[in-house]
Amino acid sequence: MDLKFSTAHSSKLVYFEQIGSTNHYLMEKISQNPADWPDMSVVCASEQTNGSGRHSRVWSPPSGASLSCSLLVRNPKGAAHWYGILLAMAAVISLRSQGVEAGLKWPNDVLVEGKKLAGVLGQASSDSLVVGIGINLQPIQIDNSVSLAEIGLTQDFDFQLSNILGEFSSLRRDFDLGGVAAVLERLREFSHTLGLEVRVTTDDRVIEGLATDIDNQGRLVINGGEEIISAGDILHLRRLGEV
Ligand code: BTN
Repeated sequence: MDLKFSTAHSSKLVYFEQIGSTNHYLMEKISQNPADWPDMSVVCASEQTNGSGRHSRVWSPPSGASLSCSLLVRNPKGAAHWYGILLAMAAVISLRSQGVEAGLKWPNDVLVEGKKLAGVLGQASSDSLVVGIGINLQPIQIDNSVSLAEIGLTQDFDFQLSNILGEFSSLRRDFDLGGVAAVLERLREFSHTLGLEVRVTTDDRVIEGLATDIDNQGRLVINGGEEIISAGDILHLRRLGEV
């Protein structure tokens, strides 16, 4: 596959037609031979047979239906989870530049028309982070999902990947120089969760309430601070005032 634009946005790029998981591959490579994998190394694939999703779920859409990509962040300047958020924000910026009103479902799902177009998974390894994104190119048999094909955008692998890598690099520069304050307002603006009644499932509880803010640690604030959620799965229930 011709990936010249994506190559220009990475320090090293490896493409597979098929792989188990781009995240696992990169994690394994950096532990075996760290010197071969500089910051902004990228591993991408057209098919994952053993891809990982959040909360130990599987992310393995069929061949050609998805764009899977993992990138390496060496010496992160902030808490690990921020880089996953930055990658999701990069996807939103890229989609908006193509005329699509994309947003984020907390913490880092990319939504279009209330449906999931892409998901992000970050994994930490000593002084490095691997952050991966999976984007639906073609329709997949998962409830409440949507694909680039269904929203009328190009499924060109290099175009979509290079846009996201470029936006990620720029957001990351802002974050590494200016910290959370440099990205928080955009994150709040991108959020499709804020202002909604949500149901949050954490390891030990289910909480329902109004999502009122995202704080400076990236946590979801419920009912003005009654609850503050740092990790969990959420369900969007309804907009304030709707029955
Ligand atoms: C989610 O559950 O929403 C997160 C999905 C993340 C999938 C991506 S695809 C590229 C990278 N490699 C993996 O095995 N997972 C991530």
